[in-house]
Amino acid sequence: MNSFITWIGGKNALKKEICSRIPEGCKRYIEVFGGAAWVLFAKEKHADMEIYNDANGDLVNLFRVVKYHCGELQKELSCMLNSRELFEDFKAQCYIRGMTDIQRAARFFMLIKSSYGANLKNFGCVKKDISVATEYLTRIQDRLSNVLIENKDFEILMKIYDKPNAFIYMDPPYYGTEKYYQAQFSPQDHERLYKAFCRVEGKCLLSYNDCEYIRVLYSDYTIEEVQRNHNLVNRYSEKDNTYSELLIRNY
Ligand SMILES: C[S@@+](CC[C@H](N)C(=O)[O-])C[C@H]1O[C@@H](n2cnc3c(N)ncnc32)[C@H](O)[C@@H]1O
Repeated sequence: MNSFITWIGGKNALKKEICSRIPEGCKRYIEVFGGAAWVLFAKEKHADMEIYNDANGDLVNLFRVVKYHCGELQKELSCMLNSRELFEDFKAQCYIRGMTDIQRAARFFMLIKSSYGANLKNFGCVKKDISVATEYLTRIQDRLSNVLIENKDFEILMKIYDKPNAFIYMDPPYYGTEKYYQAQFSPQDHERLYKAFCRVEGKCLLSYNDCEYIRVLYSDYTIEEVQRNHNLVNRYSEKDNTYSELLIRNY
């Protein structure tokens, strides 16, 4: 199934490539930088134990509310419209106190759905039927019923869940694109991630942008180059709209 949201760096276009590299027989599936969880949703079940994690508290609250209070969230969303005025109100309300988790999740969901490229900042000016997206949440709730949802920094999460029989998928903010995410990721975090990757006891797959820095950093591991389409380049233009990404693994 598809994810219920668009997310910057989302792996819709690469999910098949990634799933085809997930080894058989792992007992735990751990998605460390969850985002919209395109790879998690791509299969009905990856393992008996599945973990979704992200450092972004608003995103994790949305996932938790879909899992535990889906009906209430759908009710809250049924009064919401896709309009510029409401979009600006929801943006301002993100930082005020006194709202319930359900009210907060509904506003965050609307910001994702009605912003340009899910950037949460600029109104997208696109006609959207929110009711279809709202109904789809019931299927997402079902898929999440056995998924553990965590809101931790990647290093802490990996210390807790990594085991020799685990499969870990890591999709960090790409090198040089850190500013697009609410959860801060610094140049030092890329090195911290490398050290955490080297310590993994289970099998680990990492996706990254294709750049010299990352190729050198992970040169001791298997690095594969995969091609994907650039969403923002016009598909009818003469220009080549493909670019390469790296899949790095320790197995
Ligand atoms: C490239 S996106 C993941 C996209 C996801 N694979 C998908 O298909 O939608 C990277 C994610 O890492 C999260 N993140 C940033 N810093 C983090 C940290 N220190 N620990 C865990 N997650 C973090 C961001 O909030 C963002 O959602």
